[in-house]
Amino acid sequence: MKLLIFDSYETQSQAVADAILSQVARKPESVLCLATGDSPLRTYQLLVEKAKAVRMDFSMTHFVALDEWVGIPPDNSGSCKYFLTKNLFGPLAISSDRIHLFDALTSDIKSECAAMDDIIQDLGGIDLMLVGIGINGHVGFNEPGVSTELYSHVIQLDEVTQKVGQKYFKERVEIKEGITLGFQHIRQTKMVLLIANGSKKAEIITKMLEGEITSDCPASILRKHSNSYVYLDSLAATNLS
Ligand code: GLP
Repeated sequence: MKLLIFDSYETQSQAVADAILSQVARKPESVLCLATGDSPLRTYQLLVEKAKAVRMDFSMTHFVALDEWVGIPPDNSGSCKYFLTKNLFGPLAISSDRIHLFDALTSDIKSECAAMDDIIQDLGGIDLMLVGIGINGHVGFNEPGVSTELYSHVIQLDEVTQKVGQKYFKERVEIKEGITLGFQHIRQTKMVLLIANGSKKAEIITKMLEGEITSDCPASILRKHSNSYVYLDSLAATNLS
């Protein structure tokens, strides 16, 4: 795992956007798995700007889901699908047959998980995954204590996640479960980038990087990935020894 620390959220986001663009330039048919949330927002804005400036061709690139709130419809502005469509797929004009997201309203969530696992396998695996980190150490919706042997699965959301997650929604919603890729996917992904910024992430970043490697802090498992990169701004890195 490599650690990169930037002086600001802006320079950090520039670097992550450049890493994604280089991946697509190197391999236009890449399979990308990109997180939602506040952390990667600027990355996506810059990615769109840069991609348009160099006329980057995304027509062969595939996008797979990282996670979704179970029971939240895709037209709710707090859903992961809404976020990615608004900030990435729409502006980059990605064709819908290249977008593979979880259906969080399905009545057969087990089949939904199996279908996502099949899609990823059929595409030859994920080339690049960009994840954030929750203040409880979660990655996607791999919550503290999760089994690291899982592929796609549904999980009971941690109380912290249920509380913090309200920030994405205009009105209070019940968010009790999440559907997410599992650590087996993360382990098999060719390159994993984690992005964290701001002082609110400083404590969990120290735990992730300097504490025990344990599923109690799921992000710490990334330290065992041979091609993982952690992008921090100076605020998130404040407590590191
Ligand atoms: C959310 C998502 C994660 C995200 C993380 C951090 O609940 N499920 O995929 O990376 O929590 O979010 P943020 O970047 O808004 O801090």
